[in-house]
Formats: sequence, C-alpha cells, structure tokens
Amino acid sequence: SQQQLHERIRRAKATLAEKLVILGHFYQRDEVVQHADFLGDSYQLAKAALSKPEAEHIVFCGVHFMAETADILSEEHQQVILPNLAAGCSMADMADEDSVEAAWEDICEVYGVDPEHVEPGADGKLPILPVTYMNSSAALKAFCGRHGGIVCTSSNATTVLEWAFERAHRVLFFPDQHLGRNTAKAMGVPLEQMPMWNPRRTLGGNTAEDLQQAKVLLWHGFCSVHKRFNVRQIEKAREEYPGCRVIVHPESPMPVVDAADAAGSTDAIRKYVAASSPGDVIAIGTEINLVNRLTSEYPDRTIFCLDPVICPCSTMYRIHPGYLAWVLDEIVEGRTPNQIIVPEDVAEPARVALDRMLAAAP
Ligand code: 13P
Ligand code: SF4
Repeated sequence: SQQQLHERIRRAKATLAEKLVILGHFYQRDEVVQHADFLGDSYQLAKAALSKPEAEHIVFCGVHFMAETADILSEEHQQVILPNLAAGCSMADMADEDSVEAAWEDICEVYGVDPEHVEPGADGKLPILPVTYMNSSAALKAFCGRHGGIVCTSSNATTVLEWAFERAHRVLFFPDQHLGRNTAKAMGVPLEQMPMWNPRRTLGGNTAEDLQQAKVLLWHGFCSVHKRFNVRQIEKAREEYPGCRVIVHPESPMPVVDAADAAGSTDAIRKYVAASSPGDVIAIGTEINLVNRLTSEYPDRTIFCLDPVICPCSTMYRIHPGYLAWVLDEIVEGRTPNQIIVPEDVAEPARVALDRMLAAAP
C-alpha cells in the first residue's frame, strides 16, 4: 500500500541519515516531495548538489539533465541516482550534440571564423558564443564550455545573456526558443534579430544576411507543457476574475509572456504567490503539480492553472514513490542502482560552462 511505501522510504532515510540527500524539483508529485530534503527550481537544485559534500548518495527526484548536472558539480565520492532512468525532458532531447555541432560549423562559416577556435575580433568581442539552457544534455553543456559559452536557467537567463553580450556580438541559444526569445526581447533585442535555427534546413532556414544581422539565433526547441498556454486563457481568466493576476513560466510562448503580469522560474512563481495577500486571485501558467501545491498551501487565495486540462510534465511524473523506495532500499543494501555518471571528458568542459554561470549569477 501507499502507506507501506512511505514507511519504507522513511526507514531507509533514517538508516542512511547524513549519507543521503534527496533533492526534489517543484514539479514532482506531493507523494515524492514530502520525502525531499531540498525542494527547488533547477538553479537551486544545482547549487544544492554542491552544498552537501558529506552525502555519499544524492537521490535526484527530477529529470535526467538535472541529475547529470548534479553529477558534474558534486564531488568525486558522491553518487547521483535518478529513481527512474526514463525521466527525461522532451525539450532537452530537441537539441542533440551532432545537430548543434553541424549548426555551429555552418554559422562559423558564414561569419568566416574557424569553428574550433572562434577568436575575438579587433574590438575584442567574439562573433558568436553558445548559451545552453540548463534543460540540455551534459554533452551540450560541454560544447558550451569548449566554445567560450555558458549555461543559464530560467531564473538567471537575463544575467547570463548580459554576460554573453559583454563578450560576443551574437548568441546561439538552445534548446528553448521561447526562453531565448522572451529573455532577449525583454532586454531590447528586436525580433528581426532573433532568427530561428531549424537543423533540418540549410543554414537553419535563414539567409546568410539574416545571420549577419542576428543577435540571438534561437534553436527551434520548446516545452510541450508550456506550449499549451495561450492568450485566450489569460483573457478568460481576467473576464472571470476581474483584477486577477497572471504569472507564467518563461518557457511559455512570447504572446503569453507579454500578456501575463509576470514571468519567472518555478521558484519565482512560488515567491510571487507567497508575496500575495489573502483574497487575491492568481492564475498560473506552469506545470500542474506545482500549481496544485500552491493552491492547497494558500487556501485563503484563489489560485488556479491557466490550462483547464490537467497538464503534468509526463517525464517528471515518472518519478513514482515506488521507484524512490526501491532505490533507497538498494542503497541501504550497498548497491547503486540507476547511477548517473557523466564521463570525465564530458564533465570537465561542462563544468567550465556551469562554473561560468555560477560565477556570473551566484
Ligand atoms: P525551473 O528552472 O524554473 O525550475 O524550470 C525547469 C523546468 O524544466 C521548467 O519546465
Ligand atoms: Fe522538460 Fe517541459 Fe518537463 Fe520542464 S516541464 S522538464 S522543460 S518537458
């Protein structure tokens, strides 16, 4: 029964004590969240992985790219375990290393630079620099590390793009077109200077001239959960609840972010609700487990999801308490199931790109 499952988890946690830390993303279901030692957005979880060097076992209740990042940032003696190896991220899968490498070569050819050694021009700036969203494979973080680039999350994308523009004239941003577009637009980059890069088309579907004028080249990726939000839903919420406020995750399409009152990471959404007052009405555009948790944490406010059809992140949902109980029992027995190991030749350059982020946006 569920009760026994939770009992098993609690017992294993008590046995492993300080040797174990369980990290959980805000999109995890409550049955998992109740066992997490740290709950956070992807940036906070990356830092949490650094903050408990005494824990030998880091059990990551989130998705694959987050566990990879924890493995890259944690110490050598620490093992990172993902309770279900099928918990990936469909957006992260939209940019694979080969396609990004091929794009980079084409882009560098247009700018007349060597893709292996992009050098700064006479003004000291690089013609282009890669920025990857945290939601990407370790191989792409390594790509950024090797090419003067950096990682960003939804909570620090502006700071990271500012960092990039201090060093380069242009940015290749992947995999999420929406986070890239929303962030660059808020910084004043005109839409004409943000061409999309479609890896299936020659020059990503652009002319050489488009690329010369570009400031931010946007990879064509998106999140299948956040692409469901639309402006009509926001209008409807405002018709039904005049004076209600709307906050959305910046993975939402640009018209949605523009129509909302605010946009921010999962932790920013949580803080926005925490800063509201009893009686307030807040419509939220993000994953349903987080929205439902906020609804029950603040019963004196009206908090609901913009999308009336339940929209869970199906891969986050693959972390079932049954898997958590199983991996913990295995760890108690001295085994290491579902360990996420990023090979050192990938981890080292990936760490360079992650460290740049941690230094630029502490
Ligand atoms: P956060 O960094 O805001 O937690 O976002 C992670 C994510 O996958 C959102 O879809
Ligand atoms: Fe990936 Fe979207 Fe799920 Fe976040 S909500 S983990 S971006 S599929």
